[in-house]
Amino acid sequence: MGIGHGKVILLGEHGVVYGRPALAASLGVGCRASAVFSDATSIRIESEENQKSFSRAGTFNQLRDVELFVDRPNEVDENESLRRAFAALLDTYPKPMPHLALRIASDLPGGAGLGCSAALAVAATRAIDSLIGISRDSTQVAEASMAWERIFHGNPSGIDSAVAARGGIAVFYRGRPLEMIDTKRLPLMVIGHSGESASTRAMVEKVALRHARFRSELEALFDEMADLVIKGRIALETGDIVGFGELMNRDQVLLDRLQVSTPRLEEMCAVAREAGALGAKLTGGGGGGCMIALVADEQASQNVMDALKKLGYQAFTARVGVGAGSANEC
Ligand code: MEV
Repeated sequence: MGIGHGKVILLGEHGVVYGRPALAASLGVGCRASAVFSDATSIRIESEENQKSFSRAGTFNQLRDVELFVDRPNEVDENESLRRAFAALLDTYPKPMPHLALRIASDLPGGAGLGCSAALAVAATRAIDSLIGISRDSTQVAEASMAWERIFHGNPSGIDSAVAARGGIAVFYRGRPLEMIDTKRLPLMVIGHSGESASTRAMVEKVALRHARFRSELEALFDEMADLVIKGRIALETGDIVGFGELMNRDQVLLDRLQVSTPRLEEMCAVAREAGALGAKLTGGGGGGCMIALVADEQASQNVMDALKKLGYQAFTARVGVGAGSANEC
């Protein structure tokens, strides 16, 4: 069995593509994969009906219950991306590769900013490794799984894969191993879905176009995001959750300025703050998908979830950063 964690980016998405640090945390939900020898090489994704994240996450999931054969191209774009990602991952293994059937159960909605694609890739890598007797640590698993991630995301920083493989709360710089951080208490977050599916690839490309045009403006913005990450690390290490919430709010202003927020994400963040969240921001690539709201306790999380649900948004509460270092807990 191979496990990959879902993730939330607490601070610093997009800047991390341009060499700045970001802070991310694993979710207690993710993907589980198993592989067996077979006559033909195939992949099947089973999106769990009884989701541990959103109650109807399947609604958001484009990669729902599909079985694909690696040597048969598909007409449906999403399926073809998945098939090509699987083929790219298999290509990283020593030849000749035996035929295998891979099954992955996903608790995560796709296109939500929760790292579904990286969690699938990491779970797949671990399941294939285990079938053919390869042993590697989480950094090596994350690196191997990037072949898959590049098909889905074009120019990924690697943060999603690193957190999917290692779990916990960490600072990430592109090209370096995760710097795990010690928190007094794992942050409690409400995770709300805007109901809009988003493509991380498209959002990263959109930012790249703006970066090419307005380089100095965006570089300054990324520097400010990096500063928030450095302060955020200290806030988490010292248990200053009020301070951390303020940094999240500031990051959301910068993400909006970067044009990766949406009216729905803005509404959700505002509503969450009014209902008592200490801070709120989008998480992941933006353009839809999810937002996160930091809350002080269970009562506050209930208030924030109620306020979001009243407006028709789905939400769940999770302590983020669970499962650090574990390949078997998700
Ligand atoms: C996606 O979870 C985070 C982004 O910064 C893209 C990346 O780092 O690959 C938007």
